[in-house]
Amino acid sequence: MRLNIVCIPGDGIGPEIVREAKKVLDRVADKYGHEICYKDILMGGASIDVHGVPLTDEAIAEAKAADAVLMGSIGGDTNTSPWYQLPPNLRPEAGLLKIRKALNLFANLRPAYLYPELAAACPLKEEISSAGFDMLIMRELTGGLYFGERKTIEENGIRKAIDTLTYDENEIRRIAVKGFEIARKRKHKVTSVDKANVLDSSRLWRAVVNEVAKDYPDVKVEHMLVDNCAMQLVKDPAQFDVILTENMFGDILSDEASMVTGSIGMLSSASLNDTRFGLYEPSHGSAPDIAGKDIANPIATVLSAAMMLRYTFDLDKEADSIEQAVKKVLEDGFRTGDIMSAGCTKVGCSQMGDLLAERI
Ligand code: IPM
Ligand code: MG
Repeated sequence: MRLNIVCIPGDGIGPEIVREAKKVLDRVADKYGHEICYKDILMGGASIDVHGVPLTDEAIAEAKAADAVLMGSIGGDTNTSPWYQLPPNLRPEAGLLKIRKALNLFANLRPAYLYPELAAACPLKEEISSAGFDMLIMRELTGGLYFGERKTIEENGIRKAIDTLTYDENEIRRIAVKGFEIARKRKHKVTSVDKANVLDSSRLWRAVVNEVAKDYPDVKVEHMLVDNCAMQLVKDPAQFDVILTENMFGDILSDEASMVTGSIGMLSSASLNDTRFGLYEPSHGSAPDIAGKDIANPIATVLSAAMMLRYTFDLDKEADSIEQAVKKVLEDGFRTGDIMSAGCTKVGCSQMGDLLAERI
């Protein structure tokens, strides 16, 4: 098969981790007889430095023309980087929001899984972590507070900022359908997370999720308030299978879920639309403090590449081979600094890529 992949190395550790993901993909392509054609585009600070904007229309067109996009990370240190002196719509993150909207990537899948080998890195008490957990956060990605009207005004000398949270039933229905469909391939449970005791958008969310649930009698559905969910994630993460939630809640809960795995450097993500196209990126940020030092953990990006093979290209066997290589590398005791524990062998970013490629 011929795979047309656009890469967005981005900022910070982005270029290093994308390089290692390509190394692993190339090995997969060799072994299983595929041909990969890569094309790089600029986004985030890297694009600002060259074009003055975080994402050009030409770059969007390149991404649209590809089968899938593999991304590293974007953004810099918000306290020190000159990118954050620019107006909000010209900052690195605006590029990410723009590509999500332009490609209609409304479904963001963020798996959070506790690797038995990394149990020691889990910050939860052993009586909780010993049950293990394997959840998938299905975050709505193109609506809600992120894309509602916003402005800052001054009224009678008082500054006032307004953000708008809007969802229509179609936006809710399509993400709910994705959530139930994926639950069918997992443990048949959907926990829909909202703030229906306060917000109208959440009450509509809950009503539409219940309507969709009728088409999936084999999937158990439950509703949970977002504050309770934040608590349950640290109290009893094993109870979750698919967490279905809106954009802002999903942003916050997915960081929390990643932290309970003890290793944000391990978590992949996929952003999908209604076609087979997808944008795949690690759940973590650009870590500018460790950029260029060859110490970043490339595993989240490598696992994102596995998600790409599975969801966009339907190459399950190839995706499995990457996920198995990650398990094997951990079993063999190799760790980057972020997941290092006593008795293991510490390796850098590029060596981790080599070790993974060898195990394909
Ligand atoms: C994420 C990030 C982004 C988001 C930022 C960088 C705009 O935190 O992908 O979770 O909030 O969606
Ligand atoms: Mg986030």
